[in-house]
Amino acid sequence: MFRRFLLPLILAAGVALALIVPALAGGWAVITLDALPKNVTAGKAIEVGITVRQHGVTLVQGLEVTVRGYQPASQSVIQATAQELKQPGRYTASLVFPEAGTWEWSVLATPMEQRMPDLVVLSGAPSVTQASEGEQIPAERPFLLAGALCLALGVGAAYWALRRRLRLAWVAAGVLGILAAASLLFTSQPPAQAAEVEMPVAPDLTPAELGEKLFVAKGCVTCHIHPAFAGKDYVSVGIKDLTGYTAIPEYLRVWLKNPASVKPETEMPNLELKEGEIEALIAFLANNDTASK
Ligand code: HEC
Repeated sequence: MFRRFLLPLILAAGVALALIVPALAGGWAVITLDALPKNVTAGKAIEVGITVRQHGVTLVQGLEVTVRGYQPASQSVIQATAQELKQPGRYTASLVFPEAGTWEWSVLATPMEQRMPDLVVLSGAPSVTQASEGEQIPAERPFLLAGALCLALGVGAAYWALRRRLRLAWVAAGVLGILAAASLLFTSQPPAQAAEVEMPVAPDLTPAELGEKLFVAKGCVTCHIHPAFAGKDYVSVGIKDLTGYTAIPEYLRVWLKNPASVKPETEMPNLELKEGEIEALIAFLANNDTASK
């Protein structure tokens, strides 16, 4: 009697197990972006490379990695599931931010969700449909018409001058030609309003400001306590407190490139930082004294 139910039971258990989305055991992971997204334009897709290291060490495969974004100003929400890449622990997400402005966003690898540094999304180039929506006649249009008229009359006068050999007609053709050239030149100037439509340029960051963003985007904030992030909603397990840390650039260049080369047993992973990223992080860490005050 019991045996009859055994097989279906085992099968059901197997199916149930297969359906469970793999999640990080032990809860926390270090989520690292390949790079900070740059020059992000509203409505245009960008690719974001993500690496997930469980407990900062193990590259985890088969996770469901999701990116979520929220813009407080417009209350817009986006969500995208990342694709897994061949290399273990590596994922890539294609994101489209529909509105310009500042976005809050985070990367979720269940149950770990790490907030990323806020992103400034630029407005796209003004599209043709937007420009024609305005009812106003562009200011340069009358000049364009006048220019075309002068050109036509000038050509006519020149023809007349050639046929009749009249000096007056030559003068008229010359004057009309100059007028036509001047008005065409005027209309070819970019209209004044273009300057207002110009997209906001992302503010240039100082190396220390860039380093502060990288401290989040690379996952340093997950392991370290740092006064610059006190009271902000970043997940931190606080393995090592860097409050009041005195940065020695020469040492940090070696340490951040590969911590295990300095301390073979260290828990700090090699996050494969690029040279420029290391310099920015050093500038940020050297600012520690002022940031903590
Ligand atoms: C998985 C956790 C983890 C991550 C991620 C991590 N660290 Fe560390 N870090 C540690 C631990 C643990 C130590 C203590 C080193 C030791 O004694 O082994 C440390 C030490 C340091 C030190 C002090 C080094 C010294 O010897 O004076 C600095 C500075 C530092 N980390 C910066 C960073 C930066 C910048 C990042 C991001 C790019 C980062 N860490 C990412 C765990 C982490």
